[in-house]
Formats: sequence, structure tokens, C-alpha cells
Amino acid sequence: MVAKVVIKGGNKLSGKVRIMGAKNSVLELVPATLLTDEKVVLKNVPVLKDVETIVELMKAFGTDVQWDKENCTLTLQTKEIISNKAPYEIVKTMRASIYVLGALLGRCGSARVSFPGGCVIGTRPIDIHVRAMKCLGASVETIHGYIVAKAPTVDGETRLIGDVMDLLVTEKSGHKITTHGGCVNAILAAVLAKGQTVIENASMEPELDDLISMLNLMGAKIKRDKYDDGTDVIIIDGVDKLHGCEYSVMPDRMEAMTYAIVGAMNGGVVEVQNIDTSKMEYFLEKFKEAGVVFDDKGDSLIVYGDKTKLKAVDVETLPYPGFPTDIQSPFMTLISVAEGKSTLCENVWENRFQCVQELQRMGANADIINPNTVCFTGVESLDPTDVIASELRGGMALVLAGLVAKPTGYTNIHRAYHIFRGYANFAENLRNLGAEISIEDE
Ligand code: EPU
Repeated sequence: MVAKVVIKGGNKLSGKVRIMGAKNSVLELVPATLLTDEKVVLKNVPVLKDVETIVELMKAFGTDVQWDKENCTLTLQTKEIISNKAPYEIVKTMRASIYVLGALLGRCGSARVSFPGGCVIGTRPIDIHVRAMKCLGASVETIHGYIVAKAPTVDGETRLIGDVMDLLVTEKSGHKITTHGGCVNAILAAVLAKGQTVIENASMEPELDDLISMLNLMGAKIKRDKYDDGTDVIIIDGVDKLHGCEYSVMPDRMEAMTYAIVGAMNGGVVEVQNIDTSKMEYFLEKFKEAGVVFDDKGDSLIVYGDKTKLKAVDVETLPYPGFPTDIQSPFMTLISVAEGKSTLCENVWENRFQCVQELQRMGANADIINPNTVCFTGVESLDPTDVIASELRGGMALVLAGLVAKPTGYTNIHRAYHIFRGYANFAENLRNLGAEISIEDE
């Protein structure tokens, strides 16, 4: 059964929202548990479709999984790898499945991972993931749609070998575009490799630090550093074995910023709790520039909503610490009702404007001026209508649009399953704030 989200907008929204663990952390922490035969207990795990998918994938390798959803605790133990194959049926539904490539290579010296396909927000190549594995001495080939990788065997020992690798993707308007996922895979592969690995032009995303923290707790030796010329590096000294641990997943920055935007647009006072605002600095700068009034308490954010005070702001997405690409679509909804002309430039993904057309259907005055730049001239309010979610963050942007739309009818967001991939209990959370929102079968 396909679900749609039905919203009657215009309600004043007030109250508290507790933010769950970060989806994008969980998706790397779970494969990391393949690196030990001992038990790993993950706390603060959100109940999300993407987490279900990665858990399903782990079972294919022989992982024993216990998921106590009520207590948000996921316990994983892989005493033995019974298969090194990540099957197409599971990998095709979620790109983060590619992380098992590095983890399997590290743990058992070989991996067969289905090649992930393209994706609606961009082509999402994995050339740099593959480059990282090769740099550690692995042979990598594509056979019948599977990436088949093997660690080298030296003096009878099959094990990856540490090396120096530069994982820079490209430079855009003077800024370095780094790869978060490429670094995750490189780290997972290098932790148990022989000798030292240095990742140059490493991603600075906080979720990567969550992975580093957990792996260090398990006995890994990983640290961040900087060259004299400012290049960010991650240094990994390979160890022979990792052990189990208990680890609490960091709060979801994207979920936190999304509810902050909800608070800013709907005339009430919303407190976003259980967060770390120090990881949201650039967003908060732009939030303030857009006329939003808030109190930053460090582990919570109190947002005082007043749509009439919102004003135009220009935003350019960049890897952390820049403005996060994952929040640009929800932010579009905010600038669509902010007075004046805002410009939003997307630098990370080549195709992340799908929701623009749907926002236009709701009355937003938007103009895509080139493939990565869109301008919004703020309108007073949006009109409820039928729209289609074509990906996770764009889908959530439409939910926010539905909340702020006139109460003259219903906003029906079709193909809402995309939103369930990344926002746990969002309808319930929004209802608790006073929204009229339901999820219906269609
Ligand atoms: N890239 C390459 N080659 C590679 C890898 C990446 O060219 O081998 C390019 C990508 O095409 C993109 C850029 O590098 O243009 C950055 O991609 P990155 O590897 O950093 O993205 P990712 O690791 O695949 C994660 C998040 C995304 C988020 C990006 C950027 C997870 C599971 N996904 O993706 O999250 O947008 O980092 O921060 O962590 C989302 O949650 O909605 C989402 C898409």
C-alpha cells in the first residue's frame, strides 16, 4: 500500500520535539559492526525505513540482530561472516549499502557488492570509493553488476595495506567538494589494514566523527589532523582486532534543522530538543539572516515563529561546515514565503531541485535560472493542492509547505514513502505541535 500525507495548513504550531539519532550516522555505524566478532549495542537508533534496509543487509552476512524499537536500541553481532555478498535486491534500494564494501574487505579480505544504481538527486558515482579500496592494495573489478574486491595476500596473509590517498572530488567556486561516503568506506577498510593510512582532503561531516568515535571505542586508532596548507586529513593506524562496545548515536542535524524551520514559519514557539547546535552553525547564521528569532541553548533550540518577519536570504550549499545540501529543500519552503528575492545555489548534487516544480504548483514564485541555482520571490502564503514527493528531503519540503499553506483545502503529498526513509514519526511529532496531518493509504 502506498501512503500519502494529508495536511490542512495554517495552524499555529507550538511545543517540543525530541530529535532522534542521525540516520546518516546509523547507516555507517551498523556496517562498522562487521569489523568485530563481538557484540555492539547502538542506542538512540531511529526507527526508519533506511535503518530497516541496512539491518536486512547485515542479516545476509550472518549478523545476529536484535532491534528493541521501543527503546531505540539495536544490538548486532557478527560472530562469523557467512556470506560476503551484498545482494542487488537490497543494495538497489539504498546507496549507503555501499559501506559494506570497506567493512567486508577489512574483516574478511573479500567482498561482492551489487553496483548501486543512479539516484534521483544525481548520478552518485562510486569511483572514489573504488579508488580508496585499490589504494589499500585491493583488486577491484565489476562482474555481472557486482563490485568484486579482494585484499592482497602477502607472505600468506590476506589483508589490506595502509597507504596515502587523496579523496578530493572536485573544487567548485574556490571550495573543495569532499566525499563523505568515500571517507566512510576508506576508514572502514583501513581500520584493520596493515600499517598507516592517510586520507587527504577528508570530509569534515560530523557523522564521520561519530563513526571515528565509535571505532576508537572499539579499539581503532583514528585521528583527524591538518597539513600546514590547511588540507584536512584523517590518519588511521591499522590494528589487528576490534572489540564490541555500547555507543549512542549523535542527534540528527537534518531532523533538528527541519523542525527549526517548522517553528519559524508557523507562528508558535517550538523547542527542538536533544540536539547539538554547535554542528548547525552555518545553518543558524542563515536562519538568523532570514529574520528568524531563536534562543540557542546548545542542546536545544527555541524558535519563535513569525512568518511576517521572514526575509530573503542567499544560500549556497557546501560540504560541512558549509550550508548542508540535505537541508536546502526544506529551506526552500522557508524562503518561498520570505519577503524579497532569495537565491539558492546547490553545489553538492547536480539534480536536487525536483520539489521546486511542486512548490510552484502550490503557488511559490520560483525560477530555476541554471541547473544548480534557483531564485524564490517570496509570496504571502502557499495554496494547498496535490503534489508528489520524489525524494526524501524534497518530500519533507512539501510537508513544510503543506503546514504553511492556507487552510482553504488539503495538501496531499503522494509517494510519501520517500519521507519515511529519513524522518521518524514525523506526522506524530507535527500533530503534537498542533498540526492537522495524517498518513493515509492510497
Ligand atoms: N562523488 C563522486 N564520486 C564518489 C563519491 C562521491 O563523484 O565516489 C560526488 C557525488 O556525486 C557528490 C559529491 O561527491 O556530488 C558528494 O558526495 P558524498 O560522497 O559526500 O555523498 P554520500 O556520502 O553519498 C552523504 C549522505 C547524503 C548527503 C551527502 C553530502 C548518507 C547515507 N548520505 O551521501 O545524504 O547529501 O553525504 O552531505 O550519509 C540524505 O540524507 O538525504 C542524503 C542524500
